[in-house]
Amino acid sequence: MKKMLITGGAGFIGSHFARYALRHLPQFQITVFDALTYAGNRANLSDLEGDPRFKFIHGDVRDKAAVSEAVQGTHYVVHFAAESHVDRSIHNPDAFVTTDVYGTYVMLEACLKAKIERFVHISTDEVYGTIEQGAFTETDPLHPNSPYASSKAGADLMARAYFQTYGLPVVITRGSNTYGSHQYPEKLIPLFVTNALEDKLLPVYGDGHQVRDWLHVMDHVTGIATALLKGEPGQAYNVGGDNERLNIEITKMILKTLGKPESLIRYVTDRPGHDRRYALDTSKLRALGWQPKMDFETALPEVIRWYAQNQDWWQPIKTQHEAYTAFSKAWYEERA
Ligand code: NAD
Ligand code: DAU
Repeated sequence: MKKMLITGGAGFIGSHFARYALRHLPQFQITVFDALTYAGNRANLSDLEGDPRFKFIHGDVRDKAAVSEAVQGTHYVVHFAAESHVDRSIHNPDAFVTTDVYGTYVMLEACLKAKIERFVHISTDEVYGTIEQGAFTETDPLHPNSPYASSKAGADLMARAYFQTYGLPVVITRGSNTYGSHQYPEKLIPLFVTNALEDKLLPVYGDGHQVRDWLHVMDHVTGIATALLKGEPGQAYNVGGDNERLNIEITKMILKTLGKPESLIRYVTDRPGHDRRYALDTSKLRALGWQPKMDFETALPEVIRWYAQNQDWWQPIKTQHEAYTAFSKAWYEERA
């Protein structure tokens, strides 16, 4: 049986991917490698823990010794581990540079030495920067605007360099804004859903007319699996939902679904360097047989219901996690 190492597998997308891999890719033994930062949650993997094909390693991608030990005997690596929240990167970029850039370098170097068969680097559409019209293709130049996007672009280019220079079989995926269950409640959808459930204000940045392309987490996961199994080494693949929405439109959909008033909307000072619009051309991944399957109009209400029915998952984070409360207070006080 082949061994697959999933870094960042205790986070939002990584935990969904680990579950998918256990259920749908029986040829793999799965190991999650995760530092359990504020965003990592072992409970996201609780239903996988007893599976003989599943193992968890508590480790940091910046730790060369731990990484080199973890990749020994591994065939495939899917590298999700990253600091992932744009607002935090604006507030303090430090961990974004060390984890997203340096940590990716540590992973690539260890994988080269271990002669792994495939390294899937999980990048983001934010590396392209903002686009007024049309959609980004994989050959467009990278023009990242936030410290998060720049760190991810550094990692993306380092992954490319390990293919070009050393022949490491790297495949890169660039996914768009992902929504689903188990997302840390600092990102737009889980923050606004949980705030609305608590009758708290929904802080919309600027005019709320920024556009994001929303991708259901299961569509993102199957896109990554397609790139893993069918992608060509040295290539990048966009993974998008073909589902562009204004932030204010999402905000109103959430309120309507929960039967809450629009008076909960509060327009606040914009995020600095805020990208206006993201859009992806996904024809390259579609040519490998993938397509997004989730319909936003039915999937978003289902995701909203998950947060409504699983308050024990997010309530402790919002009230007891110092990493959540301290950041949230500092960041939103600046925007009031
Ligand atoms: P997340 O913040 O929910 O999870 C990140 C995980 O990485 C956590 O489990 C955390 O503990 C772990 N981690 C962080 N630093 C680490 C370190 N130094 N060593 C080991 N583990 C560490 O993130 P997410 O939203 O699931 O995103 C996963 C990946 O997908 C990231 O690379 C992100 O850039 C990318 N991505 C996310 C989205 C999105 O909309 N969420 C879209 C496109 C791409
Ligand atoms: O595009 C992919 C990226 O999507 C991923 O690479 C990132 O990891 C992920 O965090 C996400 O980045 P965004 O910055 O687009 O996501 P976020 O959920 O933070 O914000 C979505 C939009 O909503 C963005 O235009 C900012 C806006 N927003 C966000 C928050 C948290 C608000 O208006 N108010 C808020 O309080």
